Amino acid sequence: MIIAQISDTHIALDIPDADQRIRDFALTVADINALDPTPDVIVHTGDIVHNGRQDEYAQAVATLANARAPAYVLTGNRDDRAKLCEAFSDRGYLAPDSEFVHYAIDDYPIRLIALDTLSSGSNKGDFCRERVRHLIDMIDSETTKPIAVFTHHPPFEVTVGPDSLHFETPEIMSRLRRALQHSGRVVAVFSGHVHRAAAGYVESIPATVMPCIATSLRKGEYPAGMKTRPVYQVHRFDPVWGFTTETRIVGTGPSAA
Ligand SMILES: [Fe+2]
Repeated sequence: MIIAQISDTHIALDIPDADQRIRDFALTVADINALDPTPDVIVHTGDIVHNGRQDEYAQAVATLANARAPAYVLTGNRDDRAKLCEAFSDRGYLAPDSEFVHYAIDDYPIRLIALDTLSSGSNKGDFCRERVRHLIDMIDSETTKPIAVFTHHPPFEVTVGPDSLHFETPEIMSRLRRALQHSGRVVAVFSGHVHRAAAGYVESIPATVMPCIATSLRKGEYPAGMKTRPVYQVHRFDPVWGFTTETRIVGTGPSAA
């Protein structure tokens, strides 16, 4: 089971680096398409577009349509739930009438559970009691497979950067962390939002953040030759060893695997 994770493409159309962001996204999709073997799925962990606009989603959909692997999307704080669901409605995994954009994909040896951590009041994450109930229901609906959970906001403190907590309150993040530990079957949590790579834990569950695809918004220092080259991650699952993660720099040629 191979998962290519992308995040934070922040597609916008009326800004000076609009073309750069579209190019970053397109080059990343092309790089994923060139991987051998092809990933089973692509998961975009949110902030697909920058202003939640329909025309931005149309651009994002057109770019992602070039992907060879099936792609699943999450909402980030910059996304608009209704417009996102409308734009990506084709494949049927998003419920257009649902209050939250969360779902489970059961087609693979690893179950994929995507969560909605949007807050209506801030750029930080929220996870209300209703979402906890939905998460527990999704976890309990299948009891044999390991689970990988995807969130936009990371459920651990990222101590590099101006603000380590990416949820509105520590209590909200603790609520999500408790729910993730509920079954013992969640084996990894993959997130975005922070725009820089980070790794932590939800108790014993490894949790990571990937850098953002939009190179102009990426945090942290990169060598000059990498400034315009997006970075994404490939998570490979082995039943014995669990997940291993390869960080891919777009345009470096075939994967060593
Ligand atoms: Fe972002």
